[in-house]
Amino acid sequence: MDKYVFIETMGCAMNVHDSENILAELEIKEGYKHTLDPKKADLILINTCSIREKPERKLFSEIGQYAKIKKKNAKIGVCGCTASHLGEQILKKSPDVNFVLGARNISKITSIIHQDGAIEVATDYDDSSYVFASNRASGVKAMVNISIGCDKKCTYCIVPHTRGNEISIPMDIILSQAQKLAQQGVKEILLLGQNVNNYGKKFSTAHPKVNFSKLLHELAQIDGIYRIRFTSPHPLQMDDEFLKEFACNQKVCKSIHMPLQSGSNKILKLMKRGYTQKWFLERVAKLKSMIPHLSIGTDIIVGFPYEDDLDFQETMHVVEKVQFDTIYSFIYSIRPHTEAASLEHNVPYAIAHQRLLELQNRHKEILDSNNKKEIGRVYEILWENAREDGLMEGKSDHGKIIRAPFQEELIGTFTAVKILDSRRAYLIGEIL
Ligand code: SAH
Ligand code: SF4
Ligand code: F3S
Repeated sequence: MDKYVFIETMGCAMNVHDSENILAELEIKEGYKHTLDPKKADLILINTCSIREKPERKLFSEIGQYAKIKKKNAKIGVCGCTASHLGEQILKKSPDVNFVLGARNISKITSIIHQDGAIEVATDYDDSSYVFASNRASGVKAMVNISIGCDKKCTYCIVPHTRGNEISIPMDIILSQAQKLAQQGVKEILLLGQNVNNYGKKFSTAHPKVNFSKLLHELAQIDGIYRIRFTSPHPLQMDDEFLKEFACNQKVCKSIHMPLQSGSNKILKLMKRGYTQKWFLERVAKLKSMIPHLSIGTDIIVGFPYEDDLDFQETMHVVEKVQFDTIYSFIYSIRPHTEAASLEHNVPYAIAHQRLLELQNRHKEILDSNNKKEIGRVYEILWENAREDGLMEGKSDHGKIIRAPFQEELIGTFTAVKILDSRRAYLIGEIL
């Protein structure tokens, strides 16, 4: 009889990739098949996120929903960041849960499914040299972890508590993974870490001295890998060596995520981000001077404690200066185990919400105007997938989504495309 696993994934790219690793381990070592139907599953996994309070609150209602519809003997496991953070509280609160597997313990998935009531959440566990089973069969893109955990202490952020200290993954493991992916037909890799440009600071075993620029350089030597993306770099670690490698390495895509969080020096200090508005803008100016069609994205938090109107206007000043293509914006959410949780002077929700709207509305205008400027330009597009409306979708080097009439033989290939028109979420192209 076939066994099936269902997995729901919340949170960031790292969680998405953890879910891929979980599925590969279960498929290859335990014989589970992946299903998208929780009713059919023998094992239901929820891979959780605790970056803000809302997704965490949702967890218990979701467990209840799955418990109601699941097969009689199906097991439920809670994995990921909320698993690390709440640990045994999850089992206590919800008798429907069979085990809890923290974000730093994903490699234990094949053993924990056999242990009812088990809790594996140690954030000092080190699986940085663990090579996960791989089950990729198709697709032109793949994710590759380059580090685990985070050593920064941003005062609002729960991630160091859920994923533990930062440890880099040995470079030979990363390179051999990328080589294997290239052999399977993968053309674009996305390197993952909470602070990718800090790569090489600490390994769990002896390792030759390397840094992120060296890693990018080595990855670019792999035949068959045409594009390298990464997320997230930290603006503080964007030194000149990094900027040069980013600009000059032909395979490194010219779109970069630069998480600003706030444009106000006062707030940046309270957040312990380690840079100033001036540093951030100077890095952006330097990158823009080196790269003609650079796309920059960012994360911004509004309503951090003590943020007043002037602080928010400083954030808007940076938004105007940089003209970001992508902004992920959030209202500050108080998280346990963080330094900022003890700060007073919380910004009233209505004011934070107003700021969020102002930011998002202005960003829409900027994005529309950025996208209009793309009309008439020509880009190399890697076609990724067909859509249901007769179009196919791909990406430019600088991360813009392009649509054009579907041609099956082009999926997985690069073609030159002229941009004919623009929408907010994508550009319309003509194959040349
Ligand atoms: N390591 C990444 C961030 C991962 S978390 C980096 O430094 O860029 C993704 C984003 O969630 C953060 O950039 C931040 O903007 C947001 N975030 C984190 N903690 C938050 C909180 N307590 N409230 C609101 N947003 C938060
Ligand atoms: Fe959180 Fe800061 Fe680490 Fe990013 S760099 S994961 S925001 S502590
Ligand atoms: Fe990612 Fe959420 Fe954890 S954003 S690192 S899954 S808290």
